[in-house]
Amino acid sequence: MPKTGTSTAPAAPKRNSTKSPPSAAAPAQAGSALEIKDTRTSKTYSVSVAEGAIRAVELKKIKTADPDDSGLMSYDPAFLNTASCRSAITYIDGDKGILRYRGYPIEQLAENATFLEVAWLLRHGELPNQQEYDQFVHDITFHTYVHENMRKFLEGFRYDAHPMAMLNSSIAGLAAFYPSARNIFDETERNISIIRLLAKTPTIAAFSYRHVKGLPFVYPDNRLPYVENFLSMVARMSESKYEANPVFARALEILFILHADHEQNCSTNAVRAVGSSHVDPFSAVSAGVAALFGPLHGGANEQVLRMINEIGSVKNVPAFIESVKSGQGGRLMGFGHRVYKSYDPRAKIVKRLADEVFKVVGVDKDLEIALELERIALSDDYFTSRKLYPNVDFYTGLIYRSMAFPTDFFTVLFAIGRMPGWLAQWEEMLLDKEQKIARPRQIYIGPPERPYRSKLKAK
Ligand code: ACO
Repeated sequence: MPKTGTSTAPAAPKRNSTKSPPSAAAPAQAGSALEIKDTRTSKTYSVSVAEGAIRAVELKKIKTADPDDSGLMSYDPAFLNTASCRSAITYIDGDKGILRYRGYPIEQLAENATFLEVAWLLRHGELPNQQEYDQFVHDITFHTYVHENMRKFLEGFRYDAHPMAMLNSSIAGLAAFYPSARNIFDETERNISIIRLLAKTPTIAAFSYRHVKGLPFVYPDNRLPYVENFLSMVARMSESKYEANPVFARALEILFILHADHEQNCSTNAVRAVGSSHVDPFSAVSAGVAALFGPLHGGANEQVLRMINEIGSVKNVPAFIESVKSGQGGRLMGFGHRVYKSYDPRAKIVKRLADEVFKVVGVDKDLEIALELERIALSDDYFTSRKLYPNVDFYTGLIYRSMAFPTDFFTVLFAIGRMPGWLAQWEEMLLDKEQKIARPRQIYIGPPERPYRSKLKAK
């Protein structure tokens, strides 16, 4: 049972960067163009450059005389250098370790804002005024309950079901409960779907936890704020009103804020790609939950703890680091990031947060192992030369564990935090006139045409 309550707590614009935001002093690029000489044909082409990018479709005009040549493509597996959208939501400078939501530095939001304020900001582009905020909190609070059949759905899972699998399928299942959500170009429908997803995800997450633990489901207590309400559904037993430990509640709220958006990461890209087929938002967002489940993405926080358990003791850290470097020991989980090539700004905040939480629960040997891993890795050429620094997942698992959340629940907590980002990005994609159904090209490398000759025994 998570130690989240007072009752259960112990006594106490470069590679992979978003292009500069409009406010930054970027030189005007009107009329900029790229001259490309095709050495196959000796022809020269002019391809316009705007906002630091060329339009990949412009490359199609670069062709050979071959009538089957449909024009030049760019080949970019894993989108290492391809912008899939223009977005006004999140700005990252991976080299400088900068993360901003709608222009606001993550450090200031984590310090001062509430999670629901950030959720509003991500979607609407501005911070809510008091009236907007009160209405938003009210709407979310009054949609926290789920249909009783959702309970039965969750009860159908085995006792050892991974809570991410339960969350993923339950969120997809909400589409069956709210068929009118398919009217995605109706603003009222979009609005209620977004409210429902923000409101019901913590309830479904908590129900998944209680199911795995074999505990009775606890219904939302709508007298409580968002995070405390979630903790109540997770940890409440016979108390008439659950009182969360304020240090844990604020720590979780900050973690939700830190996870709320991260521009075009794997799960957000999944939400946008699936949403681009104009499916309902529950189905689109469940694709994001599925992507987040993977160990290279949100599943990394779970893997960090498993790795620390395997290491077992501080004295084993140097040998473990050597095994990572030699390729025998897998990756140092919680290290490295596609975008951040310096310290992940979220990891800095999480490390400070860990100190506060550990003041309440006491330092344990796992934190000591983590600190030693970080110390050695940050002074080792293998990691520094590859710009591998701790990412947000390195310390989050330790915080969750110290609150007594089970390891396989960590990614669920990440998913609750990421929900506002997925939804803001989904809506931005829908309203973007330039977007169409996402459909990448390919370079075919299979066999040429060949006649069918069955290899089965003749009948
Ligand atoms: N441990 C050891 N070596 C690593 C690590 C790591 N964690 N990450 C990257 N490397 C090495 C690679 O082996 C490669 O070395 P090489 O050039 O000698 O072949 C080099 O660094 C570059 O690695 P890539 O895989 O090309 O980097 P990419 O940008 O594709 O991967 C990723 C980013 C997936 C996050 C990677 O760093 C990783 O697997 N980290 C561990 C998992 C993790 O913590 N994921 C959470 C990411 S944050 C999030 O999703 C919220």
